[in-house]
Amino acid sequence: MTTETRKILVTSALPYANGPIHLGHMLEYIQTDIWVRFQKMRGHDCTYVCADDAHGTAIMLKAEQLGRTPEEQIAQVQEEHERDFAGFNVGFDNYYSTHSEENRAFSNLIYKRNKDKGYIVSREITQLYDPEKGMFLADRFVKGTCPKCGAEDQYGDNCEVCGATYSASELKNPKSTLSGAEPVEKENTQLFFDLPQFQGMLEEWTRSGRLQEGIANKLGEWLEAGLQQWDISREAPYFGFEIPDEPGKYFYVWLDAPIGYMASFQKLCDRRDDLNFDDYWGKDSSTELYHFIGKDIINFHGLFWPAMLTGAEFRTPTAIYSHGFVTVNGNKMSKSRGTFIKAETYLRHLNPEYLRYYFAAKLGNKIDDIDLNLEDFAQRVNSDLVNKLVNIASRCAGFISKRFEGKLADDIEDKSLIETFIAKGDEIAELYENREFSRVSREVMALADLANQYIDEKAPWVLAKQEGKEHEVQQVCSLGINLYRILILYLQPVLPNLAAASADFLNVAPLQWSDLPNILQGHSINKFKALLQRVEMAKIEKMVEESKEEAAAENAPKPTGPLADEPIADVISFDDFVKVDLRVAKIVDAQHVKGADKLLQLTLDLGGETRNVFAGIKSAYQPEDLVGRLTVMVANLAPRKMKFGMYEGMVAAAGPGGKDIWLLSPDSGAQPGMRIK
Ligand code: 2FM
Ligand code: ZN
Repeated sequence: MTTETRKILVTSALPYANGPIHLGHMLEYIQTDIWVRFQKMRGHDCTYVCADDAHGTAIMLKAEQLGRTPEEQIAQVQEEHERDFAGFNVGFDNYYSTHSEENRAFSNLIYKRNKDKGYIVSREITQLYDPEKGMFLADRFVKGTCPKCGAEDQYGDNCEVCGATYSASELKNPKSTLSGAEPVEKENTQLFFDLPQFQGMLEEWTRSGRLQEGIANKLGEWLEAGLQQWDISREAPYFGFEIPDEPGKYFYVWLDAPIGYMASFQKLCDRRDDLNFDDYWGKDSSTELYHFIGKDIINFHGLFWPAMLTGAEFRTPTAIYSHGFVTVNGNKMSKSRGTFIKAETYLRHLNPEYLRYYFAAKLGNKIDDIDLNLEDFAQRVNSDLVNKLVNIASRCAGFISKRFEGKLADDIEDKSLIETFIAKGDEIAELYENREFSRVSREVMALADLANQYIDEKAPWVLAKQEGKEHEVQQVCSLGINLYRILILYLQPVLPNLAAASADFLNVAPLQWSDLPNILQGHSINKFKALLQRVEMAKIEKMVEESKEEAAAENAPKPTGPLADEPIADVISFDDFVKVDLRVAKIVDAQHVKGADKLLQLTLDLGGETRNVFAGIKSAYQPEDLVGRLTVMVANLAPRKMKFGMYEGMVAAAGPGGKDIWLLSPDSGAQPGMRIK
C-alpha cells in the first residue's frame, strides 16, 4: 500500500431528473460512498462529484405531462434527489445538474475539438416522425406489430415476445406512443461521432486493466463485431443544449451526460482553492479518475466516453467499476408487490445505516446482482450490528462509567488481542481498496466474535461481584472498549452515523485510519447511550405496504373530470377559452334568498365595481362566514334575469355537494379585480 497522498476523483452515474431515487439506485451510491469515505479516512485527497442528468425527451415529456416547464421539473427533482442522498449519508463534495453553463461550455468544447479533428460527420438518415406531435420519434416512442413473429404492441427496437431486434421503420402498423398517430418516414441530416476511427485505441484501452474482466470481454465482443457511428444529435423539440452552428439540433442526452462529471467538478474547483481542474482532467494528468456505474451503461462509459475524451485531448478514466442490479426477495423490484421501494419511503421507516451495511455485506467487486431479501436483511443487521458489534460496547461501558467514573485502565496489561485486531488493518484496507466489502464485513464480524468470546470468558459481571477483582474488571472492560474502537474504525466507511455516535461515546475525534494503533488508556469515555436499534420486521412490512399504495396511486386512472357523472364538457377552442374573464372578487355581503333552499345571494366587489350573483352553496356555508372572503368569479358573463333576480356573473366552486362544496379562493396576496391567468 502506498503511503503517498493520492489525488482521486470519483463519480457515480448521474440519475435522470424524471423520477425518484429508489433502492435500486442506492446500491451504486452506497457502494461509491463507502469507497470514497474509505479513501478519505486513509488521508487521500479524494473528491466525489455527481449531478442530475437533466436532458432528453423523457424529461421533456414528463414535464409536459405534469404541466411544468422542463426547468421547473429538473429543479424540483434535483431537490428531491439531494434530499434522499443526504438521507442515506452519501457525501458528495458537489452535486450539480447537467443543465448548467459549465456543462454547456464543456460539451461545446469537446464537440468542437472532435469536429476539428474530423471525428464528427453528418449524414442523411430516414427517421420516423410523428406528424401530430411534430417531432422525430426515438424507437421507444413507437409501438407496433413485430415484423418477425407478428406479436402486437411491441416497441420500435426489439420484440419482447420473440426477442428479434429490428429498426422502428420495420414495425407493422406502427403508432406513435405520444399521440397515437401513424408515424411517417422523414429524411433528416444528423450528426455522428465517428467511433470506428477509435477502433484501435479502444481495443487497447479496454484491455489495459481499467475494466472488470467480464466487462472487458463484453466490450471485446462489440469491438470484434465492428463499431458503428454514434448518432449524437436530436431534432427540436428537445430539452438539452443546442449544437453550435446547427440551429434546431441538440446534443443527444448521452453526449452531455458524462461531460456532467467534468462540469460538476469544475463547479467545485471554482469554490475550492486546493483543486485544479487540469490536474484531474488534463491529458497527461497523473491523478486517478474512477466512474462507478451499473453494468447496463458500460457501452457509454467504456467506448464512447474514452473515445470522446481522447478526441478532445482530455485524459481517460483510470478505471470503470460496474455493479449488478438489485433484486428484492429474489425478484425484480415490483410495484405491485411493494418491492419497488423509493429512497424516501425507506427513510420514513428504517435507519439508512441498515441498508448501507446490508449492501456492503453483499457487495463484491464483480457484476453479480445483489438480492435484498427483506427477512435476511433484518436478521443480518440485527445479528451483526446489534448483537455482535454494538453489544461489545454496551457490555463494557456500564462498568467503566459506574465503577471507574468513565475512566479506562491506565495500562492495559494484556494487549495481545488488541494487537491481533490492529494487525488485520492492512488486509481490511486492501479489501476496501478492491471493493470487496462483503469480505470486509466478514473479517470484521469474525473479530467481533473474538471480542465477544473474550468478554464471555472473562465475564466482568461475575468478577464485579468478587472481592479484589476491581482492577481486573477495569482491565477487561477497557480492553473490550478498545476492541470496539478498532471495529468501528474498520466499519466507519460503511456506517458513518454509528461511527460518529461511537466517537462521541469514546470521547475521541472522528476516526482516521492512522488512529488505528492509538490504544485508549487512562482515557475518559462518555456515558453509553443506545447506539443502534434493532430492525423490526413490522417496520419493513409497513414500508412494503406503503410502497404498494404509492404505486397503486400512481397507476390509478387519472380522473378525467371532477366526478364520474360529470364528465369533462365538450372541448372549446383556445380562442374561446381566453374570452372567459376570471377575476378575484371580494364577498362584501351574503344573504339567504327567500324561497330558495340552495342559493345564497352574494354581493361581490371587483375592485371598485360591485356585482350581484347567486350561488348554490347554501348547504356548505353560512352567509356570515363568507363576508370578507376572496373568491374567483367569471366576470364577463352576460347578465341574466332569473327567478330570484339578476345574475351578473358566476362564482367558481367545486365539490360533490351537500357540506362538500368549496368556494375557490385565490392565494392571499391577491386583490379584488385581479385577472386570473
Ligand atoms: O442510465 C442513467 O440513469 C443515466 N442517467 C446515467 C448517466 S451517467 C453519466 F454518463 F452521466
Ligand atoms: Zn416478435
